[in-house]
Amino acid sequence: MSKKILILAGDGIGPEIVAEAIKVLNCLRDDFGLAIDMQEALVGGAAYDAEGHPLPESTLDAAKAADAVLLGAVGGAKWEPLDISVRPEKGLLGLRAGLGLFANLRPAILYPQLADASTLKPEVVSGLDILIVRELTGGIYFGQPRGVETLESGERKGINTLTYTESEIERICRVAFDLAGKRGKRVCSVDKANVLECTELWREVAIRVGADYPDCELSHMYVDNAAMQLVRAPKQFDVMVTTNMFGDILSDCAAQLTGSIGMLPSASLNADGQGMYEPIHGSAPDIAGKGVANPLATILSVAMMLRYSLNEAGHADRIEQAVSAVLDQGLRTADIASEGTTTVGTAAMGDAVVAALREV
Ligand code: IPM
Ligand code: MG
Repeated sequence: MSKKILILAGDGIGPEIVAEAIKVLNCLRDDFGLAIDMQEALVGGAAYDAEGHPLPESTLDAAKAADAVLLGAVGGAKWEPLDISVRPEKGLLGLRAGLGLFANLRPAILYPQLADASTLKPEVVSGLDILIVRELTGGIYFGQPRGVETLESGERKGINTLTYTESEIERICRVAFDLAGKRGKRVCSVDKANVLECTELWREVAIRVGADYPDCELSHMYVDNAAMQLVRAPKQFDVMVTTNMFGDILSDCAAQLTGSIGMLPSASLNADGQGMYEPIHGSAPDIAGKGVANPLATILSVAMMLRYSLNEAGHADRIEQAVSAVLDQGLRTADIASEGTTTVGTAAMGDAVVAALREV
């Protein structure tokens, strides 16, 4: 039976980069027999403009009915004046919560062909292969109470709350250990246990879960130190597991180590293996519509989708090899261009990956 993929292009460069990922999916379907059905729906600012809400019910229902969701990006200056409850980002957060996508996998891998693209010295980043496992449906992003209230004095007070239950911590730690077992067998749990009780609990649960994985080594790091270590000596890390907000921040930092945020895919999974896949970069409104955005993070997100939700590891490998082959050919979008390479636009990059797919 065909697997159902819901495509949510979103805003900014979203539609352009997703179009290239669809070319790749079409190629796998038509030339390699991948059994998929693709359907599209609106999310983010595009959905707000059309239907008055960044996550229409029909979109959430379609996402729930799909085996996997491919998302481009959401957001842009145009929607910033809106109330926070209907901003494009709410569409994304609603999808994460609505689908129960608690495990966010953010690999930061440096392609050897792009060693020059990093702002860090090549010896610091060459061979980099980190996996950040970010908790995605809890923590301060969702904790109650939240909001802005007015005190008797008339002054306003903003409130957000960091909460984690033991079971929420346990399940994300298990994901991290399971994945670490298949790679470097080292998990670094990142917290702020010296200040925040909630993450003191996080550390305690991480230790308890770690005891079930004797073949994996568990270490702990405060988030401020982790940020520093990521830019000082990033290769010390294998898998990092952390809270929603710390993971948000550290994954941007890790992305920059690789030179281009335009290369990094991500997977957000629920307990049933259903997942949403998206590039970790945003909607980049400054370059939207110009045909220069890098589609590779989205194309690599398709590879993660095939591996984690569609049980098609062979096709996932094929995409990753095709991307590597295109980089070997010297083709680069502007964000990863360097001396001696050939700069191409979004569509040409997608076409090159499809051509390489047919060769690998
Ligand atoms: C991310 C983004 C989102 C987040 C925003 C767009 C809501 O920064 O996926 O990292 O904060 O989680
Ligand atoms: Mg972020």
